[in-house]
Amino acid sequence: MKTLAVNSYAKLNLFLEVVNKRRDNYHNLRTVFERIGLCDKIILRARTDKKIRVICRGNYRIPVGKTNLAYRSAELLQRNLGVAAGVDIKIIKHIPVASGMGGGSSNAASVLLGLNKLWGLKLNRKKLVDLAQRIGSDVPFFLYNSRFALGSGRGDKIRPLNSLNALRFRHIIIVPKIRISTPSIYRRWDAIHKTFKLTRSVPDVKIFLHRLKQNNPVVLGGSLFNSLEEISMRLYPRIRRIKERLVSFGLKTILMSGSGPALFGIVSSRKEAISLAKHIRRENRSWQVFVTETV
Ligand code: C5P
Repeated sequence: MKTLAVNSYAKLNLFLEVVNKRRDNYHNLRTVFERIGLCDKIILRARTDKKIRVICRGNYRIPVGKTNLAYRSAELLQRNLGVAAGVDIKIIKHIPVASGMGGGSSNAASVLLGLNKLWGLKLNRKKLVDLAQRIGSDVPFFLYNSRFALGSGRGDKIRPLNSLNALRFRHIIIVPKIRISTPSIYRRWDAIHKTFKLTRSVPDVKIFLHRLKQNNPVVLGGSLFNSLEEISMRLYPRIRRIKERLVSFGLKTILMSGSGPALFGIVSSRKEAISLAKHIRRENRSWQVFVTETV
């Protein structure tokens, strides 16, 4: 096998509770991931020399050097396993960059899984997860072939929720032209939680999972939760204005994913999503609007 092409899917966080700050400066989370159809395409081509080369095409541009998570995944495999081969990694970007949908992390996981095959490494999942955790907190989720999963620790300890495999949501996603730095949002979280005792109790992930199983968007709507939403909205009031505008369009279940700025809604049908998307695109041409679903 010389080349391999894979879809590298995005994620949404249907639930994201920041539990506390850790000694390593990361934060413990309780989060529910959902894999969605919006995806980048990744084409891996084995090289006989040891070079790793990343090229980027598609709708967005990302740095292709050593900071690129796909590059770092290939390099980590080479170093850890003494691989003599190299690879050309072509990333065709459709997932907005730094939007809260895990595009870079997903690309990293796709490269780990793809090179495991292409380079014939035969790594088991435990080893792949171990490597993925070193690349980023969101990377392990994408190694599991699972539509929904519970994330704990930094979000990197994954429990696939296979009992939810029959569940399929339709989404509309709106991404304003803001690139959010995740560490800056967590720093705000730290500042707020240093000065204020947390009095407002956060929703319970167990109750959320119970509601998720009922598969009733109306019930679920009120229980979607993200600890970082209010923080990102304060820093970028535009996100709040978009949410309010979506509410005025009649959308009831809306949440920000990750540290934002992507906002997603759960809609009842693809038809509803497409018609809503048409209205929203007319409203503001700088917003990117996607219609997608659980995959
Ligand atoms: O793990 P990753 O490199 O994606 O995290 C990016 C940044 O987000 C971290 O440097 C940290 O500031 C913040 N983060 C965190 N707690 C997490 C995940 C991310 O504080 N659970």
